[in-house]
Amino acid sequence: MKYDDVCDDLRAHPRAWLVTGAAGFIGSNLVETLLALDQTVTGLDNFSTGYRRNLEMIRENVSPAQWARFCFVEGDVRDLAQCRAVCGGVDYVLHEAALGSVPRSIEDPLLSNSNNIDGFLNMLVAARDAGVRNFVYAASSSTYGDDPGLPKVEERIGAPLSPYAVTKYVNELYADVFNRCYGFSSIGLRYFNVFGKRQDPNGAYAAVIPVWFAALLKGLPVRINGDGETSRDFCHIANTVQANILAACASEPEARGKVYNVAVSDRTTLNELFYAIRDEVARHNPKAANVEPEYGPFRPGDVRHSQADISRAKKLLGYAPQIRVPQGLRLSGDWYAKNL
Ligand SMILES: NC(=O)c1ccc[n+]([C@@H]2O[C@H](COP(=O)([O-])OP(=O)(O)OC[C@H]3O[C@@H](n4cnc5c(N)ncnc54)[C@H](O)[C@@H]3O)[C@@H](O)[C@H]2O)c1
Repeated sequence: MKYDDVCDDLRAHPRAWLVTGAAGFIGSNLVETLLALDQTVTGLDNFSTGYRRNLEMIRENVSPAQWARFCFVEGDVRDLAQCRAVCGGVDYVLHEAALGSVPRSIEDPLLSNSNNIDGFLNMLVAARDAGVRNFVYAASSSTYGDDPGLPKVEERIGAPLSPYAVTKYVNELYADVFNRCYGFSSIGLRYFNVFGKRQDPNGAYAAVIPVWFAALLKGLPVRINGDGETSRDFCHIANTVQANILAACASEPEARGKVYNVAVSDRTTLNELFYAIRDEVARHNPKAANVEPEYGPFRPGDVRHSQADISRAKKLLGYAPQIRVPQGLRLSGDWYAKNL
């Protein structure tokens, strides 16, 4: 089914959704889109890396009637009782809550494990027992690990390069086993470097795009880890939101119980990204126009190149990414210029 048709159907027949990690970057964008589609949404978050201000921004972007259909619960997915409480009466779960970042997981593997594996298993058990229609979860391109093949196809993965990658792969294994053992099928979305509004530019574990926007807007130096020829398949948040909604509503048995790459299938090097971001920032801060990056050592645990084959998501979910990197950077640059 086409995305527009799925959205029309949801508007006509509103459903109950649970979004974990609702105060985070991806979760808050999911909540905002769902509310704008007149859905009933429960959000769960413990604010470990998310923000109340993200929820405030959602409120500003939807109507009072839409906002009234949102219920926020401050809680932790490591608490099974809490997971059970928020799964009651829910049609679709979008499970985003986890601790992101490869370096964070290398510094504190226990913390990543408890949030990303224990929390995931709690959510699976709670969603299974609540009889939800579909469970969609945030998987990760880090699962491709040291496999050098490009573009990345879902069946061919390498050895994980970080504790974070292990946690995300274990999610897939548990999801698969829940399908086999309990007939509880779910869908995993392997995100490839998502970016867009509300992605956090602060902290030691922030992602490259928000960090560089913030640095260039504030006139601070930009550092590239490695030689800048590392490449990624950067994916604007609107595409990620689309994939989640399509996955949740996918009813054909063939589409269920699988993992999908979610990206654009474009490859951008860090050097290309830097100059594209610099050009966007120069529209707001002309002093950025001639800034050059500094280069530092490669970061341990990072994969060298990443680019997704998205044909499975196109074929089985009807996924059709609408925003490519240049347009996504324009939208993001405008947002950071206003909101930093
Ligand atoms: N951003 C990306 O490029 C990317 C790529 C691959 C996978 N992912 C995955 O997507 C999901 C969302 O990532 P994001 O970029 O929005 O990160 P984020 O840090 O902005 O959002 C994660 C949210 O989950 C919450 N959270 C963390 N642990 C929790 C817990 N134990 N209980 C309840 N809430 C908890 C945080 O407070 C935060 O609001 C994560 O699972 C992440 O691993 C993201």
